[in-house]
Order: sequence, then structure tokens, then C-alpha cells
Amino acid sequence: MDPSGQSAPANVGPGAVQRRLIYFGLIALFMVQTALTWTRSTEVPPGLGTLNETAQQGRQLFLDFNCTACHQFYGLGGHMGPDLTNVTRATGKGAAYARGIILHGTERMPMLGVTPEQADAIVAYLEAWASSGTYPVRGFNPTPYGTYLEMHNDDDQ
Ligand code: HEC
Repeated sequence: MDPSGQSAPANVGPGAVQRRLIYFGLIALFMVQTALTWTRSTEVPPGLGTLNETAQQGRQLFLDFNCTACHQFYGLGGHMGPDLTNVTRATGKGAAYARGIILHGTERMPMLGVTPEQADAIVAYLEAWASSGTYPVRGFNPTPYGTYLEMHNDDDQ
């Protein structure tokens, strides 16, 4: 402040060059960070949102055979048959089990005329679902210590 009570403009006087350097330096850093953030893509693990070619065929077959009329993923779909989200990794089931039922049906599920190649593709599609998460959602019982009690008995269901 000078005696008249007015402060000197910020772009003159001692330290003005340094202030500008910091100012433009920060803008430059911001631009570099923005460029890095927006030009790098996010890595998605396989199975989570990305279907390989076989699984994509399986997805189309799943629609063509209208499996959705009776089955669900994550609880969404028809309810004549069970949820298929984790069937390829469920205890006592698995890929071969699913393939067998898809090919031959059961007493309750019709044999739909799926060929062995088509069954392989459908199983690849089911495996992609299985690697995307667990359904039903696991029990969650938190303790005051920040742990949760099911931690050591989480069986894959
Ligand atoms: C008309 C209804 C219906 C259609 C259509 C149908 N399913 Fe099923 N599915 C069932 C029923 C009901 C079961 C239970 C069978 C049993 O317990 O005997 C079943 C069982 C299964 C199982 C075993 C699930 C488990 O957890 O044990 C798989 C895998 C399966 N179906 C896949 C398929 C696929 C893939 C298609 C399409 C190509 C399909 N299903 C079409 C009714 C259907």
C-alpha cells in the first residue's frame, strides 16, 4: 500500500516476474495433467465389460434361443429357471455342468437343439458373466474394527 491508500497493481512492482512465472507454470502443469488424463484409456480386465469373439457369439445365441425368458443375470430376466450369473464357477456346478444342461436340457428345462459349437460359445458368454461379479451379493456384517465377519468364510456360491 502506498500512502494514498491504494495498492500497486499486481502485474508491476517487485516480484511481478516471479508471480507470472508461478502463474504460467501452474497453467502449464494443469494442461499437462489434463492431456495425460484425457488421452490415456482406462484398462478393463477381460470379462468385465469386454467380450471376446466367442463370448459375443454366445451372447447372440443367448438372445436367439431366448434363454432370457427363463433365466436371469444379477436377478434380471425370466424366473422359470435359476439365475446364471455364477453358474460356471458355483460349487458343484461349473462350465462342463452348464454345457451339459444347455445341450441336453433337464426334466424342467427343454432341450433347445443347441449344437456343441453353439454350447461352447454360450458357456464362454456365461464365463464372462461369472468373472464380472458375484450374485447374490455376499453377506456383509461389519464390525466396529473396520473388518467384516464373513471375511474368512466367503465361499464362492
Ligand atoms: C423354458 C424355460 C427355459 C429356457 C428357454 C431355458 N432354460 Fe435353462 N433352465 C430352465 C430350468 C427350469 C432350469 C432348472 C433345471 C432343473 O433344475 O432341472 C434350467 C437350468 C439351466 C442351467 C443350470 C443352472 C443351474 O444353476 O443349475 C443352465 C446353465 C441353463 N439352464 C442354461 C440355459 C441356456 C443357455 C438357455 C438358452 C440356450 C436356457 N437355459 C434356456 C429353464 C429354461
